[in-house]
Amino acid sequence: MKVLLLGSGGREHALAWKITQSAKVEKLFIAPGNAGTQNVGENVDIKADDFEALKNFVVENGVDMVIVGPEDPLVKGVYDDFKNDERTKNVPVIGPSKAGAVLEGSKDFAKQFMKRHNIPTAKYETFDGTTVEEGLKFLETLKAPYVLKADGLCAGKGVLILPTLEEAKKEFKEMLGGMFGNASARVVIEEFLSGIECSVFALTDGKNYKILPEAKDYKRIGEHDTGLNTGGMGSVSPVPFATKEWMQKVEDRIIRPTVEGLAEESIEYKGFIFFGLINVEGEPMVIEYNCRMGDPETETVMLRLKSDIVDLFEGVAEGNLDKRDIEFEERAAVCVMLVSGGYPQAYAKGYEITGLDKIEDSVVFHAGTKMQNGKVVTNGGRVIAVSSYGKDKSEALQNSFTQAQKIEFTDKYFRRDIGQDL
Ligand code: AMP
Ligand code: GLY
Repeated sequence: MKVLLLGSGGREHALAWKITQSAKVEKLFIAPGNAGTQNVGENVDIKADDFEALKNFVVENGVDMVIVGPEDPLVKGVYDDFKNDERTKNVPVIGPSKAGAVLEGSKDFAKQFMKRHNIPTAKYETFDGTTVEEGLKFLETLKAPYVLKADGLCAGKGVLILPTLEEAKKEFKEMLGGMFGNASARVVIEEFLSGIECSVFALTDGKNYKILPEAKDYKRIGEHDTGLNTGGMGSVSPVPFATKEWMQKVEDRIIRPTVEGLAEESIEYKGFIFFGLINVEGEPMVIEYNCRMGDPETETVMLRLKSDIVDLFEGVAEGNLDKRDIEFEERAAVCVMLVSGGYPQAYAKGYEITGLDKIEDSVVFHAGTKMQNGKVVTNGGRVIAVSSYGKDKSEALQNSFTQAQKIEFTDKYFRRDIGQDL
């Protein structure tokens, strides 16, 4: 079959790598892709949210299935757009409907949904420009630190954690005053939860679900989780505290109620659900939902998924995911992200990347790269993900570290402690 994958980051390269391992796939297109995805498929120069151009491409090239990597096209309704067009209504799109993507697109909706379905999450209330005073009063009932969340999508920047009540009140007013534009016209204030985070992923056909290997990502730029937040400096899978017993709690209290809740509310959802969880004294609680896979978690989760992912996608499309098998790799996987010096603040782009041909035993996923005059050059803050297997996470990290040293570009930086705190 012919498959079209939307997106251009490390997550999409990892998905592309896994998709092309399937014997069911004769051709993979990636729109728009990056310098790495062109090694496993054919890049197509169409933006992931240009639905008209995507539909035309699907029709003209006889594409049988569309897989959506990032949240943006989902929140904008790519699923519905394909479904509402006579020409593409029978081409399955793996990803939720616009109504389902609201789980990620609105923090307030996600919190209300969890409340309706008794899914464990932090205590919260939502305020807007007409309820500023009430919001300030609610802050006074909470303990430090204070968590403020812009309701809408802010490219990962919409959550503020403030150490004092004074700062929380000031930032709360600024958020409602337009700090993140319309995305912070409503603000969720919630109780701070203390614990270690873990990302759990499920694939659902709207009724049945399969749980994928869990992972933990490392968001801070500096080793030992210091410095500024980034889009992710690496990931590890499995996560030691996600034992069988813990994962059973996650399934019973969080995953099943979420899938059943979506079905009860007639929200069409055929795709990945990302549960951003926190382990509070042994009890899993939900920090956030995303309507897609995580990045850089996908760069380890795909290494640990043994089954044919396209077979699972077919199960999603046909509504018979319960008839499909899912198997995990026993070995651990660690992903180390090579980033541009200066990131997540200002950094330069366009440096040549060398040494990619010297990599042995690890899998290299491109994140921010592009081809320029026949050379691979840096084209983003996060540049290359080096993912490796190991008998345990320390061995996997060592393997990624050894290979990461062979890849060269000006001002390359990476963390050497991924997975070592667990
Ligand atoms: P979100 O965009 O909701 O994932 O929030 C970004 C990050 O803020 C999360 O990954 C957590 O590290 C942190 N965070 C969000 N909500 C809370 C909370 N209620 N308690 C503690 N940390 C939080
Ligand atoms: N790694 C977190 C995310 O993809 O949102």
